[in-house]
Amino acid sequence: MINAPVLFGVGGYVPDAVLDNEALSRIVETSDEWITTRTGIRERRILAPGSGGACMAAVAARRAIEDAGIPPESITHILYATCTPDAMCPPTSCTLADKLGLSGVFTADVNVACSGYIYGLTLTRGLLAAEPEATVLLVAADVMSSRVNWQDRSTCVLFGDAAGAAVFRAGGKGKGILKDALVSSNGALGPLLHVGGGGSATEFKPGDVIGPEFFIRMEGREVYKHAVRCMVKCSRDILERNGLGIEDVDLFIPHQANLRIIEAVGSKLGFPAEKVFCNVQIRGNTSAASIPLAFYEAREAGLIRPGMTVLFATFGGGFTWGSALLQL
Ligand code: UT7
Repeated sequence: MINAPVLFGVGGYVPDAVLDNEALSRIVETSDEWITTRTGIRERRILAPGSGGACMAAVAARRAIEDAGIPPESITHILYATCTPDAMCPPTSCTLADKLGLSGVFTADVNVACSGYIYGLTLTRGLLAAEPEATVLLVAADVMSSRVNWQDRSTCVLFGDAAGAAVFRAGGKGKGILKDALVSSNGALGPLLHVGGGGSATEFKPGDVIGPEFFIRMEGREVYKHAVRCMVKCSRDILERNGLGIEDVDLFIPHQANLRIIEAVGSKLGFPAEKVFCNVQIRGNTSAASIPLAFYEAREAGLIRPGMTVLFATFGGGFTWGSALLQL
């Protein structure tokens, strides 16, 4: 039995630039009516092209460190969840450490697409079990706008850019404990949500024209079905193995991909609508940043109180999925 990681601080960040459905419908053949009816999304935030996610991650990280009330130099480990790294090399976790003025720390990128934060929580448990003196900064940031094909209306309307962060230690008086985390995957379904170009399985050389394979391609309907099924299952599984029922959960924060997916998962699990947190309407799908940003914004809105039990559930490319329980 490992000691549950203690949550000390959280942070979040979204860029200032808003891209609403009206503006999108001037870029690609779509409409506010189609997007809001099928996804619930009204607008999303877009990072200035070419900026790189580490600049968003740094703001979210600084907010989390400040919230934790610890000196930045006490961070010993940085986990950076992203599927849109600033570069193939160096790892963006190293870039982030430098931006935070830290050197000599453990840094690792975690690429599990939208599930990156929940996988990061699982890794945080392991790190703190192995090194109880560690202070882990878990950051999740994605610049989905950099890998969206703005000519593909079936995907470009869905995504946005953001970062979220959290600081964990193995003990001490924090804001809550990470009771449990559970993750899973199925690589056979990977082609249904795919960004091929830029990876070593695609041959390219200087001067090649960048084709659609460099951008997100998705079989939306199939992804939708699996997302609902997997998020429901991993939510039930984690509650069951912790001896909890739906009635014990005070707030459910699912991955923010599509309002219809969120509503379907919430209702299959039996949550009343007021216990299900949604910010997808104004953030879109921000991939790995989705859950930590949602938690941060829920807290900013005064929805997180001591004593609450919070359930997270995610789903993303891979396919990967997972759930986590936070006891505040
Ligand atoms: O982070 C996890 C990964 N992502 C997800 O979880 C997303 C999962 N999938 C979805 O959310 C939904 O499948 C979408 C929102 C992507 C699509 O909704 P849908 O109800 O499954 O629509 P569809 O793809 O079946 O398309 C229906 C119609 C098609 O036209 P026809 O063939 O019926 O004439 C599309 O061409 O809607 C058309 N369409 C659009 N029309 C206007 C697709 N995208 C658009 C658009 N604007 N943006």
